[in-house]
Amino acid sequence: EKGGHEYFMLKEIEEQPDALANTLRGHFRSGRVVLDEQRLSEQDLRDVDKVFVVACGSAYHSGLVAKYAIEHWCRLPVEVELASEFRYRDPVLDRDTLVVAVSQSGETADTLEAVRHAREQKARVLAVCNTNGAQIPRESDAVLYTHAGPEIGVASTKAFLAQIAANYLVGLALAQARGTKYPDEVAREFAELEAMPSAVHKALSTMEYVRELARRMADSKAVLFLGRHVGFPVALEGALKLKELAYMHAEGFAAGELKHGPIALIEQGLPVVVVMPSPKGRAVLHAKLVSNISEIQARGARTIVVAEEGDERVRPFADELIEVPAVPTLLQPLVSTVPLQVLAAEIAKSRGYDVDKPRNLAKSVTVE
Ligand code: M6R
Repeated sequence: EKGGHEYFMLKEIEEQPDALANTLRGHFRSGRVVLDEQRLSEQDLRDVDKVFVVACGSAYHSGLVAKYAIEHWCRLPVEVELASEFRYRDPVLDRDTLVVAVSQSGETADTLEAVRHAREQKARVLAVCNTNGAQIPRESDAVLYTHAGPEIGVASTKAFLAQIAANYLVGLALAQARGTKYPDEVAREFAELEAMPSAVHKALSTMEYVRELARRMADSKAVLFLGRHVGFPVALEGALKLKELAYMHAEGFAAGELKHGPIALIEQGLPVVVVMPSPKGRAVLHAKLVSNISEIQARGARTIVVAEEGDERVRPFADELIEVPAVPTLLQPLVSTVPLQVLAAEIAKSRGYDVDKPRNLAKSVTVE
């Protein structure tokens, strides 16, 4: 069943190129992005004046990633909300608000309640879901299935990457309907997405090095994760994986916040994972991150750097360097998340824990 793998999560990590290809398949036809499982018309999409993404856990992180893309492509305000907070506030919604409810299982109670709350306020709800016929898509106006295949490991991997891709399809469909991107630009963005399965496949070649690194990190007490721009949600996701699986204290921070508090945590030998932006695509942010790394290294941290291959400027500051393929900035989370998944799973394994069934957690959280 595990296809010769030691645990399901490893199998699912390796399935990510296929999962992504399946999520994208059939969604570009006759020069247009099509969300064909949905019942929202082109006019409905044109009328949208605000987007909320509501979700929990990793699905929430996929929404944080999508915010960068949707705001950039569509010039629409995008709020990303933890489903459990959203419904207990008084969010400002109306019929021109698009609520994107992201859920692998489609059964998460908090997300379902958020969907119900949004529909009561007359907002339109689009579910991004991996499970056919689940409750959240049933109660939504429309659904976009991720088609990542069943995910058995409690820690989300291939469903998370598929959620990012699906959220991007929503963003491209909105940009297309609103005319904020020309058809040839939409086509180019889609083609770049279509190149991602092979980039993720290349990112998987970091696996052996990361497994060996994980064994050396297994005794750490805590790990910090830093990132900026789309690397920030990746840092949050890396930290969540490590908490869930290895039961280690792990925190993700926006690197720009370092001086506003977290730098006080840096001490001799503390592992800090840094998700680097591209030196070409985001030169200014890249330089800022290099300076952050040199500061934390000077204070004794052990730097574990996920960077674009050939990034020579960061190399002198990286105690450990994990190189991922160069891809367009907005697509970086799809490659930089991969080694962080492997890191968490292998640290957990080295500590003797059940990677697929971490303590206290359920695959779908059907109570609030
Ligand atoms: O099924 P869902 O996508 O709604 O689940 C949301 C979270 O419970 C889920 O992503 C959880 O955080 C995972 N265990 C993360 O690895």
